[in-house]
Amino acid sequence: MRLILLGPPGAGKGTQADVLCQRYKMAHISTGDLLRQVIKDKIPVGQKAKSFMDRGELVPDEIVAAIIEEKLKDKDTSASFILDGYPRTRRQAEILDKTLRQLEIVLDLVLYFETAENTILKRLTGRRVCRKCGFNYHLVNIPPKKENICDRCGGELFQRDDDRQETIKKRIEVYNQQTKELIDYYDKEKLLKKVSGDLDVEPLFKELEKIFRSAGLT
Ligand code: AP5
Repeated sequence: MRLILLGPPGAGKGTQADVLCQRYKMAHISTGDLLRQVIKDKIPVGQKAKSFMDRGELVPDEIVAAIIEEKLKDKDTSASFILDGYPRTRRQAEILDKTLRQLEIVLDLVLYFETAENTILKRLTGRRVCRKCGFNYHLVNIPPKKENICDRCGGELFQRDDDRQETIKKRIEVYNQQTKELIDYYDKEKLLKKVSGDLDVEPLFKELEKIFRSAGLT
């Protein structure tokens, strides 16, 4: 399957992408994770990206589009993937269309996680991430067995810099101004399926599976 996950910050896109990739053996292409890795590796473009991310703004289209194009050119990845957090602007969607055409890749579905603002706020303020393996927890919804320690690898948990209240507000504003219009964009392409991002992890996964079955993808 070749999927796009679309939705506001904190909708649970990354969490579902992890579960789906395990279940269906797909590549998880998350622009947020890729950008954080570039910053960690001290690659020059990372410094530029960081200044936008810390303010809760979008990184320029050309930077993220180049990262994605590189990934999609890899045949192993392009066979089956989830794009998580990309595209996020109309321009990114148009660049992606062009890249997919050139590489003869056909998208199956765009899954839109419709999520209430109070859910987003609770999810993002409570999120904690493992410093070592990157796994996501939530202080209330998905707590680790031992406080501040990752169940999977024993790494230390931390709060993302952009998960502070003021930056979250900015990210939601940016989503409403620049990303929300992609719902219509993909609806017109007849690729969009809507799910409730307010559901818990397991019921949401079941909804996605239902969609795959009725689209004849599984
Ligand atoms: P990115 O890392 O993509 O952040 P985001 O889109 O804001 O998404 P999040 O990771 O915050 O949320 P999510 O929907 O994945 O939720 P999650 O599953 O983690 O991007 C960060 C920054 O990078 C951007 O602000 C921008 O600057 C830059 N960037 C990235 N892509 C870009 C692009 N294309 N163009 C330009 N710039 C770009 O869940 C959140 C929390 O809720 C977790 O604690 C989780 O445990 C919990 N949770 C998840 N699902 C559930 C559930 N169903 N029930 C209960 N709890 C749940």
